[in-house]
Amino acid sequence: MKIKGKNFHTIWLKDDDEQVVQIIDQRFLPHELVIENLETVDDVERAIREMHVRGAPLIGVAAAFGMYFAALEAVDNQQFTKYIYESADKLKAARPTAVNLAWAVDQQLSFVSENYKILPSILLENAELIKKESIERCKKIGEFGLPLIEEIFAKNKKVVNILTHCNAGWMACIDYGTATAPIYAAHDKGIPVHVWVDETRPRNQGARITAFELQEHGVPHTIITDNAGGHLMQHGKVDLVLVGTDRTTRNGDVCNKIGTYLKALAAKDNNIPFYVGAPSSSIDFSLRNGFEIPIEERGAEEVKYIQGKHDGEIKKILLTPEKSPAANFAFDVTPARLVTGLITEIGICTASREGLLKLFH
Ligand code: MRU
Repeated sequence: MKIKGKNFHTIWLKDDDEQVVQIIDQRFLPHELVIENLETVDDVERAIREMHVRGAPLIGVAAAFGMYFAALEAVDNQQFTKYIYESADKLKAARPTAVNLAWAVDQQLSFVSENYKILPSILLENAELIKKESIERCKKIGEFGLPLIEEIFAKNKKVVNILTHCNAGWMACIDYGTATAPIYAAHDKGIPVHVWVDETRPRNQGARITAFELQEHGVPHTIITDNAGGHLMQHGKVDLVLVGTDRTTRNGDVCNKIGTYLKALAAKDNNIPFYVGAPSSSIDFSLRNGFEIPIEERGAEEVKYIQGKHDGEIKKILLTPEKSPAANFAFDVTPARLVTGLITEIGICTASREGLLKLFH
């Protein structure tokens, strides 16, 4: 996708230095475009934990590059494979909910051998492959999701209003996004779409990042408070809900950014289709249902402080009584019964064991 007309991915190997990975540091969006260099496993772990990079597919790819750094660093370590396994554990622990992280690290671990001379180049090559495949998955989700929007437009003959939560756009991935891929595909095809963007407290990934992306691509959108979605649905102002997923279990339960469940409840109550952009890298076939997913709890300061730009400077300001405690559950589980369908890279299926098995034998 483009920023100020220039093509970008969210993560890439530095042009003139194969031992440096560059990322867009998302903490400063939409106000500043900051490119950060990552050079060690610890840099990658911190970037994931502190959400310089975020979004399930992107943290998976970042961790894959982290494993490449682990192999480079391990060459100077007496216990070569031990160092790599310890680095893998460290990366996996950076954020617990999105399964893409462990999935990508495990992919890299499957190549680990004592051959320290060639392992770094193998892991680099595979990190690039994981990145490429991640882009292709999102593109395919766009292709499979597009007819859903086309059908609504064909029926209503007016702008299709889509509500989305958090940022499941290209900034959460490498390109295209998951939830946003069908939206970009529809917009690019000339279908009139308008996106209701949930601000998504506490870190405001919707207000800051989804809005930024849509703005850059010229997609009409409106930022709304997190609690506005139900009201808009009751008044016929939402035709479709499209969200992403951090982990979908084998029964079709969907874990995504906190607040997704409430949107699904409201969509069900108002007969509005609720679809999830779900690349296979986000599907955890080892878990029976969403209640087995570890839900990340983040620091209270994310709830108590709000970040914005004032007088040309990015600042954090206190929003609450200083001493009031705050809780910060980062994700919730939307039960499969509230999900109309999962849009994967190989087709759309019902959010159920049977649906998933039909696609992923
Ligand atoms: O805490 P975040 O910002 O990493 O949460 C991201 C989300 O919940 C996204 O919706 C999800 O990862 C899907 S991204 C394509």
